[in-house]
Amino acid sequence: MLLHGSDALKEAAAASRALPGFVAYNLETLQGITAAAEAADRPVLIQAGSSPFKHAGRDSLMQLALDAAERSAAQLGVHLDHSRDLDEITACLEAGYTSVMVDGSHLPFAENIALTKKAVRRARDHGAWVEAELGALSGDEDVSTDAVAQTTAMTDPRQAAEFVAATGIDALAVAVGNVHGFTKNPVHLDLDRLAAIHKAVPLPLVLHGASGLPVEELHGALAHGVAKVNVNAELRRAYLEAVRQALPSALPSSDVVSVWAAGRDAVRDTALEIIGRLSSRPQESA
Ligand code: 13P
Repeated sequence: MLLHGSDALKEAAAASRALPGFVAYNLETLQGITAAAEAADRPVLIQAGSSPFKHAGRDSLMQLALDAAERSAAQLGVHLDHSRDLDEITACLEAGYTSVMVDGSHLPFAENIALTKKAVRRARDHGAWVEAELGALSGDEDVSTDAVAQTTAMTDPRQAAEFVAATGIDALAVAVGNVHGFTKNPVHLDLDRLAAIHKAVPLPLVLHGASGLPVEELHGALAHGVAKVNVNAELRRAYLEAVRQALPSALPSSDVVSVWAAGRDAVRDTALEIIGRLSSRPQESA
């Protein structure tokens, strides 16, 4: 069923847990994410777009994601990830997306505020909640580049408070040393900065780039206000490894369905494991 409103996000924040935001590119990744949410019986956000729209087509992926969420027994929000385009945001809201991320993090501060305010206005008309980003993350949303965090572009706590007050957003994505995709060296978050942002900002915080993040770092983030955690690369890697293993027996008979099914099941198992990681309170993990 579709998960409307931001209550699940607020509940996660109050319990030092996090809602997973899983990126979906196609039917099989959607099926895997949905199956994991059902098995865990926990709310999950399907992040369908904006980058995956380039692969699947906007309207097709939008409808697939909404249909998967509506038909499922699990509570599934459908979220537009990293959109810089108000027309795209409007199209997703009109289709029934339950939340959007407006990404003005590449813009000067005043322009980021202006773009974000417009997105908030449009989202309110559709009863959806809004995530925005302040500070810039290194790495790429679709491939792992072994990037390192840009320490000069981290979120400033005072600016974060001003940004939140000026825009009326529901959740703030932060740059505190997090990086999109896998990295060769483990990522270390600036937890002091995160704690200062948490103190300054009365909203659930969002951590992008959680793939490969050491569990202690993740739990440090959950202890300092992070209530939504985005994961993509871990699901992509699981999908690709399963496909590689399935190929030798599938190739002789051109059995493409068995390859897609292997990818789907690997996404399900990995997403289920991540849901568990995000659902345990930091102190329970010791
Ligand atoms: P990863 O690329 O580290 O999985 O992060 C995903 C993400 O932040 C999507 O917005």
